[in-house]
Amino acid sequence: MIDLTEKVVLVTGAGRGIGAAIVRAVVRLGGRAVLHDIAATGNAATVQKELGPDKCHVIGGDLADGASVPDIWARAVAWRGHVDVLVNNAGIYESADVDHDFTKWSASWHRTLEVNLVAPGHFCREAIRHFKTRGGGIIVNLASRAAFRGDDADYMHYAASKAGIVAMTRTIARHFGRQGITAFAIAPGFVRTDLNRDFFARFGVEGAIKDIPLGEVAEPEDIANTVVFLASGLARHATGTTIDINGASYVR
Ligand SMILES: NC(=O)c1ccc[n+]([C@@H]2O[C@H](COP(=O)([O-])OP(=O)(O)OC[C@H]3O[C@@H](n4cnc5c(N)ncnc54)[C@H](O)[C@@H]3O)[C@@H](O)[C@H]2O)c1
Repeated sequence: MIDLTEKVVLVTGAGRGIGAAIVRAVVRLGGRAVLHDIAATGNAATVQKELGPDKCHVIGGDLADGASVPDIWARAVAWRGHVDVLVNNAGIYESADVDHDFTKWSASWHRTLEVNLVAPGHFCREAIRHFKTRGGGIIVNLASRAAFRGDDADYMHYAASKAGIVAMTRTIARHFGRQGITAFAIAPGFVRTDLNRDFFARFGVEGAIKDIPLGEVAEPEDIANTVVFLASGLARHATGTTIDINGASYVR
């Protein structure tokens, strides 16, 4: 039922984890993926090799400076002449303890907001301007359970960045629907990726599972399945919503 034939989907931060699973799902369903990551080499190049350069185009660019976004977007559009779906997936999850010295604390706040919120905002701007010339398009933004439930004490900046993603997504849906633009947010709980490497090293997978009624940590493919459904256009009237994928660990 889900068919992405000839759709061009840009996925940021897609060399590994959830992003790589989204790229693989897009290609499996007939679409073409622009795989962006901080570098075009390493993980990104490995995924491209697996899928083939015809189906997967790689672009490098560091989102720690959001000013890189217009150029990344232009390179994504140049590949096939257009982009149909934007997936803002790239994100960082780093600790900022209130007892850190101020310089370290402040640097982490700025970096987190730049990568997790400012850069996605710039991508949304580029996408909206492009989609307006094409009669529409789809935006899927990766938020987090933390946007609603909050996070651990040293991740308040992360939670704030993801709450910003939800508010931005709702605003886009409310104001650009008439131009055929739909926007969705996804709020995962625990997903088995390197983002949680430190947590798993300290507490094991069991540490995460004890709060998850489903008794499992989500796999990257669980998120990717939902993203490709939204990217297919089958859920147009759900625009503005956030889909929780957390095994009922936080039901709202
Ligand atoms: N894993 C989880 O449990 C979880 C839960 C909720 C939300 N999320 C969100 O899902 C998204 C993907 O997470 P993941 O678990 O796959 O993470 P991950 O750490 O495995 O992958 C993140 C990707 O983003 C890229 N990236 C990081 N900083 C970048 C930068 N400055 N410029 C360009 N690219 C950069 C990395 O290179 C990497 O490929 C993130 O937005 C994350 O916040 C993840």
